[in-house]
Amino acid sequence: MTFAEKILEAAQEGIVLLRNNENTLPLSENETVSIFGRCQFDFYKCGMGSGGSVRSPYSTNLTDNIPMANKELAEIYRNWIKENPFDNGGGGWAMEPYFQKEFYVSAELAKNAAKVSKKAIFVVGRNAGEDKDFTKEKGCWLLTDEERNVIKEICSAFESVIIVFNSCGIIDTAWIDDEEFSGKIKSVLYAWQGGQESGRACANVLCGKSVPCGKLTDTIAKSIDDYPSTKNFATQNESFYMEDIYVGYRYFSTFAKEKILFPFGFGLSYTEFKTEFVSSSVEGKNINVKVRVENIGKKFSGKEIVQLYVQAPQGKLGKPSKVLAAFKKSNLLKPGHSQELELSFNLESIASYDDSGISGFEFSFVLEEGKYFVFMGTDSENAKKIPLGSSDCISLEKTYATEKLCQALAPRKAFSRIKPAQIKPDGNYSIQEENVPLESFSLEQRIKENLPKEIPFTGNKGIKFQDVKKNPELLEKFVAQLNNEELATLVRGEGMMSRKATMGIASVFGGVSESLYNYGIPVAGCADGPSGIRLDTGKEASLMPIGTLLACTWNPPLVQELFEFEGQELKQNQIDTVLGPGINIHRNPLNGRNFEYFSEDPLLTSEMTLAILKGVSKEGPFATIKHFAANSQETQRHEHDSIVSERALREIYLKPFEAAVKRGNAQSIMTSYNQINGHFTASNYDLNSTILRKNWKYTGIVMTDWWARINDCVKGGKGEIELTASMVRARNDIYMIVNNDTAEKDGNNDNIKSSLKNGELTTAELQVCAMDIIKFLAKTLVAERKLRPLNNIPVFAPKAENQNAKNPAQENFRFLCNGETKRIFFAPENGVYNVLGVYSKPTDVDKVSQSVCNVLIDGKPTFAFECRSTEGKETRAVIGQVQLEKGNYEISLEHTKPGIEIKFVALSRDVSVSSGIDYLKSE
Ligand code: BGC
Repeated sequence: MTFAEKILEAAQEGIVLLRNNENTLPLSENETVSIFGRCQFDFYKCGMGSGGSVRSPYSTNLTDNIPMANKELAEIYRNWIKENPFDNGGGGWAMEPYFQKEFYVSAELAKNAAKVSKKAIFVVGRNAGEDKDFTKEKGCWLLTDEERNVIKEICSAFESVIIVFNSCGIIDTAWIDDEEFSGKIKSVLYAWQGGQESGRACANVLCGKSVPCGKLTDTIAKSIDDYPSTKNFATQNESFYMEDIYVGYRYFSTFAKEKILFPFGFGLSYTEFKTEFVSSSVEGKNINVKVRVENIGKKFSGKEIVQLYVQAPQGKLGKPSKVLAAFKKSNLLKPGHSQELELSFNLESIASYDDSGISGFEFSFVLEEGKYFVFMGTDSENAKKIPLGSSDCISLEKTYATEKLCQALAPRKAFSRIKPAQIKPDGNYSIQEENVPLESFSLEQRIKENLPKEIPFTGNKGIKFQDVKKNPELLEKFVAQLNNEELATLVRGEGMMSRKATMGIASVFGGVSESLYNYGIPVAGCADGPSGIRLDTGKEASLMPIGTLLACTWNPPLVQELFEFEGQELKQNQIDTVLGPGINIHRNPLNGRNFEYFSEDPLLTSEMTLAILKGVSKEGPFATIKHFAANSQETQRHEHDSIVSERALREIYLKPFEAAVKRGNAQSIMTSYNQINGHFTASNYDLNSTILRKNWKYTGIVMTDWWARINDCVKGGKGEIELTASMVRARNDIYMIVNNDTAEKDGNNDNIKSSLKNGELTTAELQVCAMDIIKFLAKTLVAERKLRPLNNIPVFAPKAENQNAKNPAQENFRFLCNGETKRIFFAPENGVYNVLGVYSKPTDVDKVSQSVCNVLIDGKPTFAFECRSTEGKETRAVIGQVQLEKGNYEISLEHTKPGIEIKFVALSRDVSVSSGIDYLKSE
């Protein structure tokens, strides 16, 4: 099987069929279907932002893959799209609109189409992403008036209407039952965004080539205001997580069952299944359940997903009515065939965290006394109580702590959270509020008491990186050789588009300076992102389905196989750690980056994470789990403070990270942009030290998000990118990023040096981060390869036809200026040439995202002009050196991330950079 075939398989498996009245689907070979909605051709394949920046080798649309599509109608759409092309908002960062202009469908057109087909499909397309949360408005969460009109027209003309949601996340779905659509919406499916195979995957499901077997990883509620987090979402400055642990189905099944439109875990097939409880056994706290799944349909093979939920006693802490404890997907079962599935879990995995001491066990995970019931079913609302051994429950006589910890990360601002009160006749609990326990220890003291001991500086003792790789016991001695400047260089990553590793990636770190290089420390490279490799040179890479779709497969083995392919591609591109997966919890459906993440449920998120970690690392590269943690919105993402109880953090938001560390051997973590309870995550001591290293025993590296803000470790306060000393103190090892080639020169002008001087940072703390980094580097693939020179000069020889050609009009440094994008350059002699230029980025283009313009030599991206902002000022730079043999070369420019204006580009050998540029300008 190829990577592309695996992508198709995964993209199909994650599609969720929500409704299929009168067996409207699948389409049969001898019927025609009329497809409406422009996204049938502009079928979305991925969300926006760093996770959506993969240049895929191809994409697939819906209609071209549906043989029974109404050809005439398709032609009308095709022609209209030619006149009304896809609007990418100019290609700038987060500029693409949420929806695309829709084609007007008249009653007459719909009626004509209905003459040749009984069924119609309408594709609702939506996109959001990084720096771009969804809103509650029309064209975003809600349908536009134009979309409504088209759907209305087709509902009055056709017998059956099928709605395909081609979206990066859940949007309003309740409208499918609106009166104006006269009950004609018979089938509904969420096709999400399936990467390069997005359209084909959806077509295969509609045509029955692939039988749907995905299930929702989030609850679809009737209204956006039904989600308890909505009122505290996308707020400025701070968000109070008043819903606490009651996220998604944990909320709805406890307090508001009637608000569920489609429950968590729900999804239909073209066939039907019977799931029967077979037996269960309890050994200590381990619960094993056997279930038989039978395909009782007549025609289609299919897969079913069985889910086990636990109901814990309300106790003193209060609990959700249901918590997912285990799940399993069946094999593809033919009609009449069955399979016995074994599901198991440990009751302690659903323990609650007592952040107040009310259970008698302060700051511990506890199982409270009382009865624990297990429910088996195929979604959160359709699950029946099953016997457990010879009883109907596990009965605990006494509350006990499954793990004793200490208070960490607790809020400092007072707020209240919800909790179940009384059960009502309708099965819902009424809501009570309680005060969230606040931080009650001295963080300053904790940090002081845990300060590491300095390893005395020795200077160069001749111990090289490879010696440490062979003999890890030399680590301390190795680090003892590095002085403060070298240690500080090591904690600064450079980027983007560094020439010290594969061109086009997000950052490099490790031996980025001459002196570190001399110790043999290699330079490791990191690239985005969760759905495939982002190379800003514009190089192609495979584009996988979005995270939400992958999770909807509920099939970790499949996801692992997919990421084994991804691991190979990473290895081929010499990328040591990919910046993904994103494993944040879907707190609210409006989060723009939900597409990168998996679910509202921590267990499902954990299982997907473990599958990806296993898959990627099979061939040697690492995966970087991000964004650590509680990064639940994009609005004001660089400053926002998530104010959240320690219980919700430990039980919900940190859980997948904990699983990845404890069970998935995670070695690379990216912190997030946001603050948690007043501390930016990059300088959050409890997050990076107390919880991650002390509680979970993490041994890998932690890097910041790109240009993340940092505040004082103890006092909190305003965030700045220069406060790197606090980052080191918290043991977030690497600052991402300083400009290329400036780690040694302290490109951010950070406060490491001054803090070492005034005692706010110790050398020992820098040494600890350095050791984390060196240990990590020793495990990477780059450590296996020959050390690559820092100034890695690419070598070119002229193409045969250009060898002798001379372009007499050319001087050796003069070409490409003022808007030219291509020219022939004559290198008069063999040698090394500086590539230099003048560029600027206008002030009206955003300052937060990268703009990139590649310089291609004979068609090969070799260098890049790259910046976030020049504040409108003209900037001069030597962007690299190239070795050329005498002859002619085609030099061209390619804007892969718009924004930069290139004024001049030159290749200079014997003319100094500035005089070369002055010369050009005087021309
Ligand atoms: C994103 C990260 C990403 C990084 C590098 C940031 O803007 O939040 O997820 O990995 O950029 O591109």
